[in-house]
Amino acid sequence: MPLQIIRNDITKVRADAIVNAANESLLGGGGVDGCIHRAAGPGLLAECRTLGGCPTGSAKITGGYNLPCRYVIHAVGPQWQGGGRGEREQLISCYQTALELAREHSCETVAFPLISAGIYGYPREQALQVAVDTISAFLQQNDMTVILVIFDRDSYRISEALFADITAYIDDRYVDAHADSAAERRRRWLLSRRKASDVPEEDSLFEANAAAAPFCAPAPGDPASLDEALSQIDESFSEMLLRKIDEKGMTDAQCYKKANIDRKLFSKIRSDRQYRPSKPTVLAFAIALELPPAETREMLMKAGFALSHSSKFDIIVEYFIERGNYNIFEINEALFAFDQSLLA
Ligand code: AR6
Repeated sequence: MPLQIIRNDITKVRADAIVNAANESLLGGGGVDGCIHRAAGPGLLAECRTLGGCPTGSAKITGGYNLPCRYVIHAVGPQWQGGGRGEREQLISCYQTALELAREHSCETVAFPLISAGIYGYPREQALQVAVDTISAFLQQNDMTVILVIFDRDSYRISEALFADITAYIDDRYVDAHADSAAERRRRWLLSRRKASDVPEEDSLFEANAAAAPFCAPAPGDPASLDEALSQIDESFSEMLLRKIDEKGMTDAQCYKKANIDRKLFSKIRSDRQYRPSKPTVLAFAIALELPPAETREMLMKAGFALSHSSKFDIIVEYFIERGNYNIFEINEALFAFDQSLLA
């Protein structure tokens, strides 16, 4: 998954490079800068002293020293001054320069903190939006895994209105699926007793009839042999995926990048007709292809899944698909806000 969002201390993240939210002197400070220097040891500061500082909106690279990464990329974000002083452009440039440096140094994995969103006071929601948009644009053109490391839950909050709307949507459906009436409890209790004693269910008319029915000759159109039956197997998940990519006039790369799916995983799916993807992978493709709800369900079914109202994850994804909102990053933001695993 090329863009991942995780909650962690960035000094603990394994990556080829981690990005530091530094200041123009590059000589250390508080926040994540302080954590990185403490974890890296004095060698990092010694190398930083040789760099001659760095202007706001840019970045410089050093070794990783005692950190579990090869490089530290020191990016200098803007200090928030109300938003009218080019802060957004500087923050975008900061991410872009850091990503370019990572590419030049052949990094396959890079971890970023939410630059400027702490001591520098950039409003968190906006800082997050800039980070996600800039990184996603870069990943459309480049093969890299970028991990956005969020330190505290508050940094990653979707808007109050969206949060409230999704909460209501979940409540309506989740409660339905979990309604536990006395009748339902009794039915399940009876069922469990029957299973335990292996007594057939008294109202299982269908099963009783089926057991009593003689073996039926195949109806016209039914496959006559096992070979024939197997040759009539439905279109598989990977076949449907490739067909839909063609129908939408997309290239493979456009599709897997939009789905935020790794190129290697996509090649595996492409070359194996029977590939069994995970449910989040199917949903990521359905969203990238902007499949309407019915086709999303069909694609899920081909991989052996269904959307369930006993899963908050499913209800949240359904909420977006029903509204025709196929922005995978917005969906992931919402999933994160509700403590669910992310797509793809
Ligand atoms: N891991 C991941 N994220 C962290 C960590 C950590 N260990 N610690 C803090 N954050 P900040 P800035 C988050 O203040 O706003 C320094 O003094 C934090 O919650 O570190 O760019 C520099 O020298 C926030 O969301 O950086 C500069 O003078 C984000 O990292 C100045 O602060 C950035 O917060 C830079 O300020």
